[in-house]
Amino acid sequence: MADLRTRYLGLELPSPLVASSSPLTGSLEGLRRLEAAGAGAVVLPSLFEEDLAEEAGEVDALLATGATNAEARAGQPAQAGYGAGPAAYLSLVTQAKQTLSVPLVASLNGVSRTGWVRYAARLEQAGADALELNIYYVSSRPGSSSSEVEWHYLDVVRAVRQAIRIPLAVKLSPYFSSLANMAGQLVEAGANGLVLFNRFYQPDLDIETMEVRPALELSSSTELQLPLRWIAILHRRFGVSLAASTGVHTGEDVLKVLLAGADVAMMTSALLRNGPDHLRRVEGGLRDWMDRHGYETVDQLRGRLSQRSVPDPAAFERANYIKTLASHPTPNR
Ligand SMILES: Cc1cc2nc3c(=O)[nH]c(=O)nc-3n(C[C@H](O)[C@H](O)[C@H](O)COP(=O)(O)O)c2cc1C
Repeated sequence: MADLRTRYLGLELPSPLVASSSPLTGSLEGLRRLEAAGAGAVVLPSLFEEDLAEEAGEVDALLATGATNAEARAGQPAQAGYGAGPAAYLSLVTQAKQTLSVPLVASLNGVSRTGWVRYAARLEQAGADALELNIYYVSSRPGSSSSEVEWHYLDVVRAVRQAIRIPLAVKLSPYFSSLANMAGQLVEAGANGLVLFNRFYQPDLDIETMEVRPALELSSSTELQLPLRWIAILHRRFGVSLAASTGVHTGEDVLKVLLAGADVAMMTSALLRNGPDHLRRVEGGLRDWMDRHGYETVDQLRGRLSQRSVPDPAAFERANYIKTLASHPTPNR
């Protein structure tokens, strides 16, 4: 039987399959189901800077009286994320830590270096094993240069790094002019891991009501190639953990990101669409392939197809682009 044990952010995971931030990870019951189905770690939904700014007073009061821990001990059902507020979030971290045996990653989502950053330390105190920081920043001012935007990211990462001792992963967008350089700067600023990538939801237009409306569509495996390429390029470059996020749906997808060099494969859309038990099918696919190809551990296959390992490293760069375009058949019309 293949050994799926994996290290991510310096933590021991029983499997490289990780349930990424989503409503599924926002309740104790959801987390239990994910662990039972084979999640090697879980990432809670994000606690948003906006929620923290609104409720800062309430949380400080709760923390001062220890009420968050008291709630947890009383076994009240905890629900976190998406407006449930910081007190509920801290309570879920505490309860989940007492219940789960797999590592628990809390998530903060923000963009500025303001008071919310100190909640990173609260999450650590509540029992989070690691923190994922999602910096969602849409820069729409023509006067704001790419270096200013990058400076913002690094400033937030440095501030959070200073606030905690647990490992810190940064969930990135792919939209940087020089992603490899940015990745290196984030590591210098204190990131222990990079999550590639955050998936942006673009607003849509309703042409009947003439309104801008939010549009949330789940991913499919066709979106895997973007994280796959960057994981292959960044594998072993900076000595940090790499997590693949976006487009991981099947055992095959997991194999691809591991072969490219990811430490873990994160899933949200596949689990929202098929339920937590989908993890069992994905694990089955992974094990089946490992058995057929004679791999006993995940470490043996990790990075076998990274940019450094393949005979043609340019396949991950511009050369691949030209080959891809040329490979399309010419239509007979
Ligand atoms: C309904 C929903 C809620 C999400 N909530 C969060 C969140 O709170 N924080 C976060 O960093 N990512 C969040 N994500 C993004 C996912 O964690 C994941 O990065 C993204 O969906 C791409 O992975 P996938 O292709 O497996 O879905 C959410 C995604 C969905 C679909």
